[in-house]
Amino acid sequence: MRERISKLTQIVEIFSAKSLEDVEQLRLTYLSKKGEISALFDDFRNVPNEQKREIGQLLNVLRTKATDKINALREQLSDSAQTAETEDFTRTAEPLELGARHPLSLVKNEIIDIFSRIGFTVASGPEIEDDWHVFGALNFPPEHPARDMQDTFFIEKNPDILLRTHTSSVQTRIMTSQKPPIRVLCPGRVYRNEAISYRAHCFFHQVEGLYIDKNVSFADLKQALLYFAKEMFGENTEIRLRPSYFPFTEPSAEMDISCNLCGGKGCPFCKHTGWVEILGCGMVDPNVLKECGIDPEIYSGYAFGMGIERITNLKFQVKDLRLFSENDVRFLKQF
Ligand code: DAH
Repeated sequence: MRERISKLTQIVEIFSAKSLEDVEQLRLTYLSKKGEISALFDDFRNVPNEQKREIGQLLNVLRTKATDKINALREQLSDSAQTAETEDFTRTAEPLELGARHPLSLVKNEIIDIFSRIGFTVASGPEIEDDWHVFGALNFPPEHPARDMQDTFFIEKNPDILLRTHTSSVQTRIMTSQKPPIRVLCPGRVYRNEAISYRAHCFFHQVEGLYIDKNVSFADLKQALLYFAKEMFGENTEIRLRPSYFPFTEPSAEMDISCNLCGGKGCPFCKHTGWVEILGCGMVDPNVLKECGIDPEIYSGYAFGMGIERITNLKFQVKDLRLFSENDVRFLKQF
């Protein structure tokens, strides 16, 4: 008995098959009811009692080995049969369809690119902010309408915590954590409690710029913005600065560029004025510098902020703001 078992074990070790039929033949020869291994089990009853335990174990090992081997061979052969049938290795590969970058990302990256050429680095800050970073440090009086429930999303349980309404909050973060000279660009998403329509959304994107050093002047601001406008909208673009008001800058201005659709001649897009507004800017208010721990006697700085959607609309004439957040590939594919 022992000898037959070890002989069969050797045979099982070298089981091989070229086809699924060969595998079936092995199963019939060794494992079917009339197979050789089954025959050993039949003879088992004649084994003397004191050897039953040991022989029984050897038999079980043999049967498991044979079963495993046959199953493995079957799997191997059916895998390769399937591959050969379903795959045509000579066929040319399917073309890979590449996604496109979102238009807002394209424009954001272009803005970063333009300002990085004049020494600006990129910084970011949290979208969930506290009142001080968004308003308090930036010289907003307590009763300023921007803090109003109409505009700002507050966290219900704690009105000190809110969704930032502008990226100017990153100015606060940078000024309180870095020493001048500071030259940063802060792109990011902002939130306002607005009804969603073709020209307003409850979230949109801005890029904030901040430059603080000794002797920074309004002329530096104007020159940097003129450079930006020409890089972004073309060499012939002109700019004009109109006096304005922001709590965190003094003096403040809004910047228009000559309408890039009609070249400044006047068209429906620029409401026949020849100019379109693109950003707010100004010299950082000394109160803001002081509040953020920077000595306004030594340092001065400028800041500007623009909406990425606005710049994107000017570049690509997207008429409905909602398209930017709907993820419709027919829209996104065009950029
Ligand atoms: N934070 C302003 C807004 O959201 C935009 C802005 C205006 C940013 C003037 C500035 C600035 O840095 O100097 O409307």
